[in-house]
Amino acid sequence: MIELQDVHKAFGDKRVLCGVTLTVPKGESMVIIGGSGTGKSVTLKCILGLVTPDAGTITVGGQPVTKGDRDAFLARFGMLFQGAALFDSLTVWQNVAFRLLRGAQKRARAEAREIAIEKLRRVGLKAETADLYPAELSGGMQKRVGLARAIAADPEIIFFDEPTTGLDPIMAGVINDLIREIVVEMGATAITITHDMTSVRAIADDVAMLHDGVIQWTGTVAEMDGCGDPYVEQFINGRADGPIEAVR
Ligand SMILES: Nc1ncnc2c1ncn2[C@@H]1O[C@H](COP(=O)(O)OP(=O)(O)OP(=O)(O)O)[C@@H](O)[C@H]1O
Ligand SMILES: [Mg+2]
Repeated sequence: MIELQDVHKAFGDKRVLCGVTLTVPKGESMVIIGGSGTGKSVTLKCILGLVTPDAGTITVGGQPVTKGDRDAFLARFGMLFQGAALFDSLTVWQNVAFRLLRGAQKRARAEAREIAIEKLRRVGLKAETADLYPAELSGGMQKRVGLARAIAADPEIIFFDEPTTGLDPIMAGVINDLIREIVVEMGATAITITHDMTSVRAIADDVAMLHDGVIQWTGTVAEMDGCGDPYVEQFINGRADGPIEAVR
C-alpha cells in the first residue's frame, strides 16, 4: 500500500532522511520507533506530500504521491498530528467533523455532528465534550479529539503520530485497542509513531526503527525482542549506553 524507496530529505545543511526504504502492506499496522529528532514525523509528512523529499520515490497504492488529484489523495488518509493541531476557533465536534462538513465527503450538519459524537465516544470522551472549544480541554483530551478527527471519515490509511503521549495508562490502553480495532475491523493500513513500548506491542504487526536517516532494522513485532540489533535493543530497554548517543 505504501512504499518509500531511498527517500532523502535535508533542511538546510541538516540531513534528516538519508535513504529511507520502507514497505507497508495493505491492512497492516506498521510502527515506527526511533529517537527524538530522527525524522519520524518528517517521514509521515513526506508520505502525505506535506514535505517534499529531495530525492527518492514514494507511492501509495502504486501511485506516486505528488501526482494526480491532491484532494482525492488526501481524502484516503486520516492523520493524528503529534501536537493534536486542532482548530482553536472551532468546537470539538466541528473539529472532529471537519472533513464531513466540506468537500466530497460533505454530510448534513446534524449527521456530521452525530458521527462526531460517536467517534468521540470511541476515544473515551462524553457527548458533553462536543460543544467545548479545544482551549477548554486538557492535553490528553485534545489528543483524543485529534484521534477522533483522524478516524471520523473512516479512512483507508491512517497515521498516528504519538497517539498515547500524555495520556494516563488506562486511556493509553483504550487508544491502543482502538488503533488495533481500526486495522482489524476496518481493514485500514496504519503507520503509528510511538516511544511507548507497551503501545508498540499492542499495535504493531511490523516494526521499523529509524536511526541516522535510515531504517536501521525492520521486522515483525515477534522478531523485535532478541533481534540482536544493538540499536533496537538499546531503544526497547531504554539504556543510556549503546550505539545511540543521548546528545543529538
Ligand atoms: N519544516 C522543518 N524545517 C526545518 N527543520 C525541520 C522541519 N521539520 C523537521 N525538521 C527537523 O528535522 C528533524 C527531524 O524532525 P522530526 O519532527 O521528524 O523528528 P521526530 O523523529 O518526529 O522526533 P520526536 O520523536 O521528537 O517527535 C529535526 O531535527 C527537526 O528540527
Ligand atoms: Mg515527531
